[in-house]
Amino acid sequence: MAEVFVRRNAWDPEAGEILRWYATGVGAMKERDPENPTSWTYQAAMHGSSVEPAQPLWNECKHGSWHFLVWHRMYLYYFEQIVRQAVVEAGGPEDWALPYWNYGLGGEQATIPAPFRSPAEESNPLFVEQRAPGINDEEEPSQIAPEIGSDAAALERPQFAGQFEFGGGEAQPEFFFGEAGIVEQTPHGVVHSTIGGPGGWMSSFQTAAQDPIFWLHHANIDRIWATWNANGGADPEAGEWLDQEFEFFDVNGGTVRLKCSETLQTIPDLNYTYDSLPEPAPEPEPEPEPEGAVVEPAEVPQPKVVGASEEQVTLVGNEAAVPVEIDPRARQEVSEATRSDDPRRVVLNVEDIEAEVNPASVYGIYVNLPENPDGKTLEAHHAGNLSFFGIEQARSPKGEEKAHPLRVSVEVGQLLDRLGIGEDEEIKVSFLPINLIRPEEGPKHGIAGSRRGVAAETATEGEDPPVQIGRVSLSVTK
Ligand code: C2O
Repeated sequence: MAEVFVRRNAWDPEAGEILRWYATGVGAMKERDPENPTSWTYQAAMHGSSVEPAQPLWNECKHGSWHFLVWHRMYLYYFEQIVRQAVVEAGGPEDWALPYWNYGLGGEQATIPAPFRSPAEESNPLFVEQRAPGINDEEEPSQIAPEIGSDAAALERPQFAGQFEFGGGEAQPEFFFGEAGIVEQTPHGVVHSTIGGPGGWMSSFQTAAQDPIFWLHHANIDRIWATWNANGGADPEAGEWLDQEFEFFDVNGGTVRLKCSETLQTIPDLNYTYDSLPEPAPEPEPEPEPEGAVVEPAEVPQPKVVGASEEQVTLVGNEAAVPVEIDPRARQEVSEATRSDDPRRVVLNVEDIEAEVNPASVYGIYVNLPENPDGKTLEAHHAGNLSFFGIEQARSPKGEEKAHPLRVSVEVGQLLDRLGIGEDEEIKVSFLPINLIRPEEGPKHGIAGSRRGVAAETATEGEDPPVQIGRVSLSVTK
């Protein structure tokens, strides 16, 4: 059997070597002719580029649907082989594999690994200046806040397909931003904006993959998918998803195609794994099918709106809040549906999100947040996050797709139950910017506590390019 490549945590003490060879590989790719599909520029442009005319397989990244995880898995798989070949050519290890950055582990691990920070007279291939202030600080780099970097909310989702589920909603492969799943929002989208900052490379599709940290960020997202699977999460079984093919370039610059179904088990299918996957959950016993029964595919439940805000909200980098009135006829239904033994889901939707550019601020979404909350209170009222990564593409999509606003949905049944909203007439939904954490304000302030202070210090009041939210609504699935 061929050797299995192991992707390791970039903060692991032994990863220093892996990162040095990564720098060598990236450096070699940067030297190649940009027309060469295995060059750095070409590989990054496959994700997105504003250079015209576009070359074959440029601007191909898949977002806002159930193709997000699988397309990026394939993209990394071929990229990793291209880097490995360059590493081996330079005399490096033959088992080199792409490391991942798990910012969700907090503390030092929530800072960008040191080899990415040091400009070394601009000759460090891993250094990029276009990152958020504080990220590249050589002595005291800023940390990704725990609510931004954590994979916990994503790993908790019971299903793959659906907007408030793990992997995103069903869509045709050419469509962008119909329904991003939870992992695509947090940590994926919010980490992009947090690293990139206003105008930084990681904040926009067209520049993100030029930052060498992009690939470690996506290795982490891919690791979260493999972890979700190992915990028992089941990938879609629909033929239209399994049979979908995507095209890439291999190490020789030749085109190759992979089907989604050929990538779902990283070891037998693609020959790699992660250093930190949980033991796989035991396979559930298949239920004997009663004879002659027709197996209906599980239906994705359609939510019914039970309450909506009346005013628009404009976000410019500060806190904002809006009341959402619940239809009197639906109040009892909402209160019943929030109970943990009720099969219905209560979902909070942030709809019609529009902006000209990604302001790179990310926001936590909170329900019924009291005045002057401390860290614990913030945590207790936190429903999810808002990421605007990719908002430019939703406005001017490729091909047949019409321009459309973004939408973010999160399940809030448990949260509302815990907050005891009962049959309340309305809930209050607040949006608070979540900033990078300066190291000196670190853990001693507790999980979320420090960042309000940070927000107050570093947010440039009202200076963000505006983001409009058309409506905030609550819905209940049948
Ligand atoms: Cu296609 Cu993280 O982006």
